[in-house]
Amino acid sequence: MEISRLSGVGAEITGVDIRHLSDNEYEGIKSAFTENGLIFFRDQHLTEEDHIAFAKRWGEININRFFKANDKYPEIAMVTKEGHQEQNIGGGWHTDHSYDQEPALGSILVAKELPESGGDTWFTSMYKAYDSLSDGLKETLERMRAVHSAHYAFGTKSGDKQSGGTGGRIGNSDVADALENPVHPVVITHPLSGRKALYVNRAFTLHFENWSVEDSAPLLEYLYDIAIRDEFVTKFQWRPGSVAFWDNRATWHYAQNDYQGQRREMHRITLEGCALS
Ligand code: SIN
Repeated sequence: MEISRLSGVGAEITGVDIRHLSDNEYEGIKSAFTENGLIFFRDQHLTEEDHIAFAKRWGEININRFFKANDKYPEIAMVTKEGHQEQNIGGGWHTDHSYDQEPALGSILVAKELPESGGDTWFTSMYKAYDSLSDGLKETLERMRAVHSAHYAFGTKSGDKQSGGTGGRIGNSDVADALENPVHPVVITHPLSGRKALYVNRAFTLHFENWSVEDSAPLLEYLYDIAIRDEFVTKFQWRPGSVAFWDNRATWHYAQNDYQGQRREMHRITLEGCALS
């Protein structure tokens, strides 16, 4: 097994079949995941059962409340864009589930059907984003918390009704509306690595605690711009058999929507996480 660190974020792991991992290989993968917050595998041959078995090695599976589930395997969320759909799932920088009180650890995404070209996923490092800040700003942000919400992305306020029908999301806007908005630290100490990471994102962060939306916006925008500096970003090109496993507490991701008229189907399993501090 070989682990190659990528220049932006993440590491690519080759020479391993994730259906049949030795204890040594599993430990090596775990270290790579902890260090990088994101790992990629190529040339895997996972059935749905294999995908679920691999996920269960890392923790409890979260059943997605907003995406269509696989017909046979409710543990697998379908991240599908049909040829006739214009919008995709995840088509903007975000980290999953920051709207939960205990945000999900991460997700394992398996490529099932890919467009002829395009459909890459971009990732960025929230460790590098934090590390790049000046000491004064780090200290200020470490004392702050921010309010996150699913209401505007998935709730009745989202105005996004494209999701019904085939593929995409399944609505459930009432479920999103009922979620109580959590307050998370703006800088978290990562529960696996112990490193500090910036923990706000454009999709789900509403404002800083005790700050108005308007007062929060300029500083949030500043942080969002820093987080996507070219040198922090990896643009992952999917191939048949590719698998990505990202940590939501250390990365953001962005599914590119540049393959209009073509179908893309990905299978996602998300793992339960923990409260952040
Ligand atoms: C997502 O989980 O946000 C979608 C990622 C992708 O389809 O590349």
